This record gives sequence, C-alpha cells and structure tokens, in this order.
Amino acid sequence: MRSLIDITDFSVEELAQLLDTACDISENPQKYAEACHGKKLATLFYEPSTRTRLSFEAAMMELGGNVLGFSEAGSSSAAKGESIADTAKMISCYADIMAMRHPKEGAPFVASQNASIPVINAGDGGHAHPTQTLTDLLTIYRELGRLDHLTIGCCGDLKYGRTVHSLISAMSRYANIKIVLISPEELRLPKYVRYEVLEKYGMEYEETTSLEEAMPKLDVLYMTRIQAERFDSFDEYERLKDSFVLDVKKMELAKPEMRVMHPLPRVNEISVKVDSDPRAAYFRQALNGKYVRMALILKLLAEKDLEHKVEEKYPLVVNQIHCDNPRCITSCEQEIDHVFKCVEPTMGIHRCIYCEAKKIR
Ligand code: NCD
Repeated sequence: MRSLIDITDFSVEELAQLLDTACDISENPQKYAEACHGKKLATLFYEPSTRTRLSFEAAMMELGGNVLGFSEAGSSSAAKGESIADTAKMISCYADIMAMRHPKEGAPFVASQNASIPVINAGDGGHAHPTQTLTDLLTIYRELGRLDHLTIGCCGDLKYGRTVHSLISAMSRYANIKIVLISPEELRLPKYVRYEVLEKYGMEYEETTSLEEAMPKLDVLYMTRIQAERFDSFDEYERLKDSFVLDVKKMELAKPEMRVMHPLPRVNEISVKVDSDPRAAYFRQALNGKYVRMALILKLLAEKDLEHKVEEKYPLVVNQIHCDNPRCITSCEQEIDHVFKCVEPTMGIHRCIYCEAKKIR
C-alpha cells in the first residue's frame, strides 16, 4: 500500500504519469465520473484550509465517491486527547483513503504508520505539503510545457512556507533547474532544505532580498504568504508581513512568458491588479489542484492492495536521540518513538524522521 507523505515518495516517472492522468481528467471528465463509486475519502483537517480540503472533496465527488471528515480539531476527538495513531486506526474502519492536515510536523507520517488505508499529507506544520507540489508541477507543465530548464524564484516566507520546501524538493529531480530564493533575512530557507536538497543534489541557487533584481531572470515566480500562524512573536510578523508586494510595476520587469504562481490564500503579497495579467496563473493553479488530486486518489486506491516496500535510505537510530523541536509531533505525543536518520555519518548529522530537526551525535 502506498501513502503520500513526502513528494519524493513518488518517482519522477510516477509524477509524470500522475500529471498525464490529471490532464486526461481535465479533458475527459465524464470518463472518470464513476471511477470511485462506493469509495469514501476522509478529510481530517486539524488546521484551517479552503482550497486543499475543498479540492480534495470536490475531487472525490467528481470521481463518483463520497467524503466524510472534519475541518477543525475542536470538532474531533483530538479535543478529548485522542492520539494520531488511534485516530488513524479508527478512520481506517470508516473510509478507503484519508487526507490529513495537522499543525504538528510529522503527524500525517505517524498516521500512515498506523492506518490500514492510504494516507495523504495535506500539509504538516511548516514542514511539507506534497499535494500542493503536485498542483504546482501540473501548473508549470501546463503553462510552460516543461519541468526542466527553468529558473524558479521562490519569494516570501521561505522559513515556514511548507509549499516551497516541497516544491524545491520536487524540482531537485529535474534537469537544469535554478532556484532564486527571495526572502527577508529572518525568513530564509531552513537549513535542512538548503543542505539536504539544494546542496546535496548540486542544484544551482542564489539568495537575494530584492524581488526587483530577481524578476527579469525568472521563468516562474512562486509567491508565498508570510505564515502569521507560525511566528512566535506577533511584532515580528507585523514587521515582516509586507516584505514583498508584487504589483503591476514589478510585473513590467518580468519576461513576457514568465508565470506567477501562489498556493493561495494571498494576503497582501500580490496586488489584485496583477490578476488580469495573463501571466498570473494562480487561479488556474487552484483548478489544477482538483485534477491532480483526482489523479492521486485514483493511483493510491488502485495500488491499495499491492505490497509496497520502502527502502530505508539512511540508518535509523531509535530512542537514543531526543527531538526537541516544539513543532514536531513527538513534542505532544509521548508514546511516539523518537527516531533519527543518520544523513551524514562522517559528521554525525542526524535528522528527526518526523520533522527533520538536526542533531549531531
Ligand atoms: C498553503 C498551505 O496551507 O501551506 N495553502 C494551500 O494549501 N493552498 C499556503 C498558505 O497557507 O500560505
């Protein structure tokens, strides 16, 4: 059985197949209208969402299936203290597949270790958001006709913006990708993405605090919201919230075929006046999210009864290192083993398998 926890759970070939299916669904929706007849998708959203949850639900409905679930932790048994593991086991009795969004990093992974149905990570804290990346890949592919030979500018909150982490991880597997990181000093890309992805895979990248300077080089500008909910200090958020605002004037600096993407919701970072520019692809991107989630649900349900062995890339260390990241799922669920993978044996670098926090040992 497969789950989708991290975008690298799928090979490049599998991603290409998913995008092909998504394109076919968008062109021939009637062909798929009964594909999931009698199947149920559970959406477990412990954090706010509009697009991700509704696009999952719309996706399942358009496949002829049904949906059940909750859209806030307060209305689930989490409010009574139920563990992720117990919730996952129980949901497996009621649904055929589940999508989970959770504020704690690694929560969907814990769910996948305990469920007997496929689990989809619909966003875990500031960590990862693989189905947004599927949406992004489909959008880049449909808008520009390729997933290689691209200069992609990621702008805004690169520290807490989980969509950027998953996107960079996905792009590391395509040829000739250059990443331009555009953020305030305080919101730079986390070190684990920098070292474990950009540097490890020898990706070309540069960092800047100037959107204007980056603009002319880009094939894709991926704007992101400053993630207010992940800041420790409100004052810090207030100070940084309007760091970058894309307006019509800045669009004049861009290539004529450049595309602006945004996982949405936007706050102030893109002026509504940009919406009418044909290069503004973010609403088309939201629609792509539905098609690619349909393709994903089909794939995971089709492979549900197949055995799937995951090759462990790194040696694991169990309960010998303690993860002290307060955003990690291990910080609030005492019975979860603290497991670290040794990613760099010569320097003793270990990373938590749930949240990627680093420890030297
Ligand atoms: C993103 C998310 O939840 O990380 N939204 C989404 O899923 N489309 C981006 C965000 O909230 O800023």
